[in-house]
Amino acid sequence: MNIAMLASEALPLSKTGGLADVVYALSKELAKDPKNEVIIFTPNYRNAKINAFPRLKDLGEIAVDLSWRHLHAHLWEAKLGRLRYILIGNSYYFDRPSLYGYHDDCERFAFFGNACLAALRFLKFAPDILHVHDWQVGMVPCLLKEKDEYKNDPLFAHTKTVLTIHNPAFKGFIDRYFLADFWGLPDSLYDNGQVRFDNMVSTLKAGIVYADKITTVSPTHRNELLSPYSDQHLNGVLELRKDDFQGILNGIDEEEWNPAHDAYLAKTYTAKTWKEGKETNQQQLLSTFSLTKGKGPIYAMVSRLSWQKGVDLLLEAAPQFVGPNVEGTILILGSGEYALERRVQALRDAYPSRVGVYLGYQNALSHLIYAGADFFLMPSLFEPCGISQMIAQRYGTLPIVRYTGGLRDTVEGYDGDPNQYADGIGFRDYDLGGLTYGMSKANELYHQPEEYARIVGNALRKDNSWKKSAAAYLRLYHEALGKEE
Ligand code: ADP
Ligand code: GLC
Repeated sequence: MNIAMLASEALPLSKTGGLADVVYALSKELAKDPKNEVIIFTPNYRNAKINAFPRLKDLGEIAVDLSWRHLHAHLWEAKLGRLRYILIGNSYYFDRPSLYGYHDDCERFAFFGNACLAALRFLKFAPDILHVHDWQVGMVPCLLKEKDEYKNDPLFAHTKTVLTIHNPAFKGFIDRYFLADFWGLPDSLYDNGQVRFDNMVSTLKAGIVYADKITTVSPTHRNELLSPYSDQHLNGVLELRKDDFQGILNGIDEEEWNPAHDAYLAKTYTAKTWKEGKETNQQQLLSTFSLTKGKGPIYAMVSRLSWQKGVDLLLEAAPQFVGPNVEGTILILGSGEYALERRVQALRDAYPSRVGVYLGYQNALSHLIYAGADFFLMPSLFEPCGISQMIAQRYGTLPIVRYTGGLRDTVEGYDGDPNQYADGIGFRDYDLGGLTYGMSKANELYHQPEEYARIVGNALRKDNSWKKSAAAYLRLYHEALGKEE
């Protein structure tokens, strides 16, 4: 099967969050089967880590139209094992310091989507499945179904499209004017409601309406999105597509995230040697932050500092856990919203001997934190799936999660019953009481070495690999194509 993945970020080139992990790891798993040809199409950003590829092939320039704008994309091809990448370059749109956050993001990714279709034609790669991820490429299924130039192109005659919603909070809002101005699409698509959402065009909604199949990244988040109480307000349109809408849980890349072979660790370890292994990494981690440990555990967070992630709750709860009762340590690695960055720094300044903060994106440090911390904090307001809690489990660092979305599907919370299976800690309410419950439960468990070791053992042995999930995507692809596997 020919599979084209279209995504605004993908490892090892670029990453701001879990989308990059998923696009890479899912594609790699699918490409293991020689029956599948998988190509990832992704922008060639200024800071793209092109050195990760042994060889890059210059494919030259192709023409890309954005309605009246006659533009060019520079294509590069790279390979990692059986997986192919096509990097889409355009210095005006992508030679910038960050991936996102520009006033013209909609135009940048409209260009990217159109360039992907032009690149498929240039490569003469006829995709059976064209799998688009999030709002950035949400318009592509609509282009294939609405524009004559694609409808009549034999290259796409058998193509079925799949949209995966990783983050429904980003809807790709843009004024109706740009339907024609970017994509040459008629205004009627706005007037008849197909691409309209809250009196704007939403590229994410367009994807939901036009894709042949839709997924989100966990079964629980699927149900949340379909609920009339969902604050994402996509339940109306998703209800219409319910039969074609699935929740497929993310996995983690068990090669990248493996404490037994992790080059970033001070000491590697397995489910048998975790005590010594984690201890050595913990010492290294504490010295990196110039901290010493109190009698309580190390609670860590590695995250985009976004309103989605429950950072505000942590800021509220922190004083009780770094104070004399618990004497815990809190480590935060992250970057994001300005106000949250400042508040996190203020917490560190108020408790300099108990709180460590690193503002920025640091892959190597994240590995050391996953290995050296005792508990991993994910008190998210909403979380379509979450990758970090699964990585933490793999390193024997128990996640403390709010039961929402994929956190509900991946963590069985410990609640004090010695006969119960558990591989983390969970709480329900998004409030101070909820997180206080979770962090206190963690502290209690930490001081009961045998119980603690039992739960850590469960986490370490948990199978969060991509195998099952990639098989579920493949089944969905076959369903879209109307074929038996
Ligand atoms: P989201 O995609 O919503 O940000 P996920 O849990 O799905 O959340 O994925 C987050 C990924 O990004 C994880 O692999 C995590 O380790 C990584 N990450 C987040 N912030 C940082 C950071 N500041 N430095 C290094 N890695 C980070
Ligand atoms: C989004 C979600 C996160 C998910 C990731 C990858 O960024 O916020 O929960 O794990 O996408 O699917």
